[in-house]
Amino acid sequence: MARTQTMPHSMRVISTNEEMSQACREAVKPVGLVPTMGALHAGHLSLVDRARADNLTVAVSIFVNPAQFVPDGDFSSYPRDRRSDLDKLEGAGVDLVFMPSVEEMYPAGFDTTVHSGELTRSLEGVARPGHLDGVATVVAKLLIQSSPDLAYFGQKDAQQLAMVRRMVADLDLPVEVAVVPTVREQDGLAVSSRNAYLDPR
Ligand code: PAF
Repeated sequence: MARTQTMPHSMRVISTNEEMSQACREAVKPVGLVPTMGALHAGHLSLVDRARADNLTVAVSIFVNPAQFVPDGDFSSYPRDRRSDLDKLEGAGVDLVFMPSVEEMYPAGFDTTVHSGELTRSLEGVARPGHLDGVATVVAKLLIQSSPDLAYFGQKDAQQLAMVRRMVADLDLPVEVAVVPTVREQDGLAVSSRNAYLDPR
């Protein structure tokens, strides 16, 4: 009796914009992109699962984006665990992982920022000046580089989500923004990479 053969899944890790654009252009469509800053947890994996269900190719970016950290913020101490992130993504059946360096994303002379208006004048926009423009700039770059059919964002970062939706509409970016519900710890706390900074109390 013939046995069902499962093909070993191979995940490709990419570090340059050019290679990422080409890989996404040549990928079997639809392509879903999950932008992340790594330190992956159950919330990220729920975005990946949703992307896996909706698309034939799933790409995940891991880039700790200096432009969205406030001066004296936690950019240098932000949790980073490349090996564990790659293992999780491989286990989740991801096809492409984009891990550019800071120099690749922001080469010398980089001088353009995407600035959102009204939506950045409250909440995080006030508490962390420049943060949302940093997010808008890097998300615009990622969406342009990869040209995914769908891009996945968590409901947890509600203001970021509203801003990304507005930006995609305003700049006519040809992508559908997909929203995935917040994943919570048993006590109700939203799962987040920065929860590593908290003690139980
Ligand atoms: O939500 C995040 O992890 C980041 O803000 C994002 C969308 C990956 C941009 O760096």
